[in-house]
Amino acid sequence: MRVLVIGGGGREHALVWKLREGEGVEKVWCAPGNGGIADEAECVPADAGDVAGLVSLAEKIAPDLTVVGPELPLVNGFVDAFGERKWAVVGPTKQAAQLEGSKIFAKEFLQRHGIPTAEMYGAYDTPGDAYGALCAVDWPVVIKADGLCAGKGVFVAPNPDAATDFIERVMEKNELGAGGKRVMLEEALEGAELSFILLTDGERYAPFVPTRDHKRVFDNNEGPNTGGMGAYSSEELLPEELRQVITAKIVEPTLEGLAGEGIHYHGFLYVGLMLTKDGPKVLEFNCRLGDPETQAIAARMDFDLAEVLTDAASGKLRPEKLRWKPGASACVVLASGGYPGKFENGREIHGLGEVGRLADVKVLHAGTKREGDKIMTNGGRVLGVTATGNSLEAAVRKAYEAAGKIRFDGMHYRRDIGRHGRQSSAAGD
Ligand SMILES: Nc1ncnc2c1ncn2[C@@H]1O[C@H](COP(=O)(O)OP(=O)(O)O)[C@@H](O)[C@H]1O
Ligand SMILES: [Mg+2]
Repeated sequence: MRVLVIGGGGREHALVWKLREGEGVEKVWCAPGNGGIADEAECVPADAGDVAGLVSLAEKIAPDLTVVGPELPLVNGFVDAFGERKWAVVGPTKQAAQLEGSKIFAKEFLQRHGIPTAEMYGAYDTPGDAYGALCAVDWPVVIKADGLCAGKGVFVAPNPDAATDFIERVMEKNELGAGGKRVMLEEALEGAELSFILLTDGERYAPFVPTRDHKRVFDNNEGPNTGGMGAYSSEELLPEELRQVITAKIVEPTLEGLAGEGIHYHGFLYVGLMLTKDGPKVLEFNCRLGDPETQAIAARMDFDLAEVLTDAASGKLRPEKLRWKPGASACVVLASGGYPGKFENGREIHGLGEVGRLADVKVLHAGTKREGDKIMTNGGRVLGVTATGNSLEAAVRKAYEAAGKIRFDGMHYRRDIGRHGRQSSAAGD
């Protein structure tokens, strides 16, 4: 079996790592991949937004299975192009990917199906309408750009001045590009956040182990937002009672709602939840796996991912095949100096050889590049040091022991990954 993975971050390294362990897997390609993935797959240059380019790449490679990491190719219709050619691919079509591609589409879908979510005040096509709506909302108010904005399109505005400023930057100065042409305003929710990720073939679905990520750059959830500074997975995140509520009130109505509207959704579905005092509510959908949540999830996989994804691509998912290592996992992201602001690439990374020999630890590369026999930094988030253990404490301890052996100029990371999971009241971020 020949497998092609689209993307080149830590999430894709995690996918390549597990796909390669598949019994029937002969070869894995990754487009574009990175310095660490290059040890485990053949990396080929690619632009994730260029559907035509990716299709012609697949024509050359002729993979038996293609797995898409990032949202951009999905929202741009990558899976539709594959479907026309009857090639096996895991991911939703362009129409189904609107659940992530348009926050207004997602909100209206949730409302139509009575699925708990933050109340929307309205959706606006012009800055004037958006400013006008601010006089009738409660504070803080959440402003969301409708389209894809690489994690920069949501702002929880504390007051009218801050809200006006954000709307101006998004709708008048177009700082976020086309994704900010429309915005919506919604009620601010309070609670801990939880990611619920599942795999579906359009009919059946299999939940993945629960995860939580850490978005702020500094300990105690301080500092600016990032792509994610770490994640962990532990069964304690999702007590059985809560799982039942999420399944009955959110997951199943979502999948039934899609099918009922004639939207065939297959692939990963990421449900971002806020655990409010009135129960779990949907913050957003993503039509792909999370990063760095995938790193924590992959570390606990105890099944043949290539086989399971082939089943999902062909509409024959067998949820009972997904088995998970008990215990917990943690992923600590090592970032470049200055990230999430300005940073420099090209710093040599030391210590990877030693860490490679540690038990229960896997270093997943995000922003790295190979130069001869050296590995250099090549991105804001550089490495995801991922470990498993019998408990969350053990997984976190092993991840930090390994992180402590890696060095590069300017390296920084959070010291409290998984900590709120070990406290009785989860802080969430
Ligand atoms: N209604 C809301 N109330 C409070 N916080 C919110 C709300 N919606 C989003 N957020 C916060 O903003 C973050 C980003 O919003 P999200 O909808 O996940 O968009 P994206 O991931 O595309 O940026 C969330 O993880 C959450 O912390
Ligand atoms: Mg989000």
